[in-house]
Amino acid sequence: MRVFLETYGCQMNVADSELMAGVLQRAGMELVERPEDADAVILNTCAIRENAERRVLGRLGDYAHLKLANPALIVGVAGCMAQHLRGKLLERKRVLDLVVGPDGYRALPELLRRAAGEPVAAVRLDRDETYGDLEPRREPGVRAWVTVQRGCDKFCTYCVVPFTRGRERSLPLPDLVGQMERAAARGFREVVLLGQTVNSWRHGESDFADLLRAANDVDGILRVRFTSPHPADMTPRVIEAMATCERVMPHVHLPLQSGSDRVLEGMHRTYTRAQFMDVVAQLRAAIPGVAISTDIIVGFPGETEADYQATLEAYREVHFDSGFLFKYSARPDTRAFRLPETVSEEEKGRRLTELIDLQMALSAEVNDRWLGRTVEVLVEGGSRRDGAQLHGKSREFKTVVFADDGSPAGRLARVRVVGATAITLIGESLDAPGAQPLVSIGG
Ligand code: SAH
Ligand code: SF4
Ligand code: F3S
Repeated sequence: MRVFLETYGCQMNVADSELMAGVLQRAGMELVERPEDADAVILNTCAIRENAERRVLGRLGDYAHLKLANPALIVGVAGCMAQHLRGKLLERKRVLDLVVGPDGYRALPELLRRAAGEPVAAVRLDRDETYGDLEPRREPGVRAWVTVQRGCDKFCTYCVVPFTRGRERSLPLPDLVGQMERAAARGFREVVLLGQTVNSWRHGESDFADLLRAANDVDGILRVRFTSPHPADMTPRVIEAMATCERVMPHVHLPLQSGSDRVLEGMHRTYTRAQFMDVVAQLRAAIPGVAISTDIIVGFPGETEADYQATLEAYREVHFDSGFLFKYSARPDTRAFRLPETVSEEEKGRRLTELIDLQMALSAEVNDRWLGRTVEVLVEGGSRRDGAQLHGKSREFKTVVFADDGSPAGRLARVRVVGATAITLIGESLDAPGAQPLVSIGG
């Protein structure tokens, strides 16, 4: 069977698609690049906001057309939206043959074979499934995504994830070290540890600080990142591990969501603004120059103008490097779904636009501070816009673009920053062609 996988949603979904690809390949199935060449297409979907689901429903329309030309085509929906809508999807979309939730991927080859005969739904959440023993088929590159934890137990009142991915489970440390060692052996130079509240990872006696130290010690891995930590689990131990591990990068994505204590309580985030600021202060004291990015939701039910102003103020106070900014979207199953919406779409839009403007101004300021300084860039490859340019990330996770100096992907280059926008740093390589590189990796 030839399978085409299409991925929506967050990095965990990207990692899950690599997991599915590994499962399918071991079962002798072939992965193809174009849906037209496939016997089965699987959409790995997201349910976090309504527009995420709307996009997928639109895409299913395209596959309905493809199915007219090829009636044997199997169309499957996997991931969070599959779990969220379950059987309803099969009823609503006649084009569908398979609905499989995030805990059903181990049986994917078998499910696909069955779906060739009749519609199949596999949407039982499994408290124990971690896929810890399964090797993903990683997309080539310098960065390997390593899922260290599945599910979420936080139950923020707006969020569908605890319902789509079930209870929090951590993968065992030896499985994770094995995965990272194999990734390093295959040429990956950076690992990104993934979990919905990744810093609450715990297995046996080990906590997330131990996991960071173990990742830091994997031979061949030059950089360790992680996403997303929950502010309430950002313990002094974790901050200390970040500060002392040379290969753990000085960047934290720390979702604030709102700057108003009243809204934070309504969201059940379990921290106050002051507690969040305290974590930020600890990070900045322990890790000089640490970059901090965030997530914000505007227009949560009951958010007043004063609450929103508190968010702007907190955003300025932290001076975030960057942020993902969202309009609140009511999700069925969640506790906030039952709250009456008090902020109109129009007003949410106004608040979002103003916040984006603030963020762009702050990001430009942060990036200007890099002018004239030298950054270490892990080269990822040619710039998408210009073939004569290389791009990569600085230690702080800033995108850096510089003239091609012949550095291969996977090398650490020293680059002087000569220009900056809100989104990108523009640099010049200090490693003259033929000069001794900072670190050189064969192949
Ligand atoms: N586990 C991560 C976030 C996962 S979802 C964490 O807690 O940090 C990514 C982001 O989507 C969240 O941080 C939040 O800002 C946003 N989000 C989640 N549910 C949402 C909803 N119902 N409406 C709008 N944004 C939402
Ligand atoms: Fe959702 Fe909150 Fe869990 Fe993040 S911590 S996935 S926002 S419930
Ligand atoms: Fe990720 Fe979307 Fe699911 S953000 S966890 S794919 S709901």
